[in-house]
Amino acid sequence: MIEARGVAFKYPGTAHLFERLDATFGQNEMVALTGASGRGKSTLLYLLGLMLQPVEGEVYVSGVPVSGLRDRDRSKLRAHHYGFIFQDAALDPSRTVLDNVIEGSLYRGDSRASARLKAMDLLEQFGVEPRSDAKPGQVSGGQAQRIALCRALLGEPAHLLADEPTGNLDPRTAETVIESLSERAREGATVIIATHDPVVIERCDRRLHLP
Ligand SMILES: Nc1ncnc2c1ncn2[C@@H]1O[C@H](COP(=O)(O)OP(=O)(O)OP(=O)(O)O)[C@@H](O)[C@H]1O
Ligand SMILES: [Mg+2]
Repeated sequence: MIEARGVAFKYPGTAHLFERLDATFGQNEMVALTGASGRGKSTLLYLLGLMLQPVEGEVYVSGVPVSGLRDRDRSKLRAHHYGFIFQDAALDPSRTVLDNVIEGSLYRGDSRASARLKAMDLLEQFGVEPRSDAKPGQVSGGQAQRIALCRALLGEPAHLLADEPTGNLDPRTAETVIESLSERAREGATVIIATHDPVVIERCDRRLHLP
């Protein structure tokens, strides 16, 4: 479970994006985060994902206040409990697709062989296994998104945050992505999806709209 309590946030030199935001995202729940472009959906995912820190208020994970922890401890929490799919995939261009997918798993202490097997399974499930040896600069935008999804799913994280994960996908491929996120929620994860996609919104359990 992830909670925002009284969260305020602004980037330096800009107006507040959030002033006193309270929101709770439970286990087994898939929530659509909606709002106009530029409203702050990605920013809220970064706050909930402990990549940005609120200027006031606190983010709680499983009831524990964590947004004030030092960098190292937040990184550790992220590595072990979060999967994050960035809006632009954010793959490391210098490594192969496969190495991008298994990187977090190695950081968590898995063996390379077992991480590789799991990663190849996931890449196959999303139809991008033939690109496993390519560099991110050599794959399409939609393939990069699915590779980022594989990376996020690999550790079976308790919290899965996805930033417009179907933005570059055809409806059929988008469905495989939505179904995999939904399956993680059914298995107990907290899933939050920033999206403009009506099909995704429809499939979520509820919607949090940023007015
Ligand atoms: N690092 C930054 N420094 C200053 N302003 C920023 C920074 N990152 C984002 N912003 C601004 O904060 C606002 C919210 O951005 P954010 O990316 O969270 O919006 P969004 O709702 O995800 O939009 P979109 O639907 O286009 O992805 C925007 O006005 C953006 O220009
Ligand atoms: Mg965004």
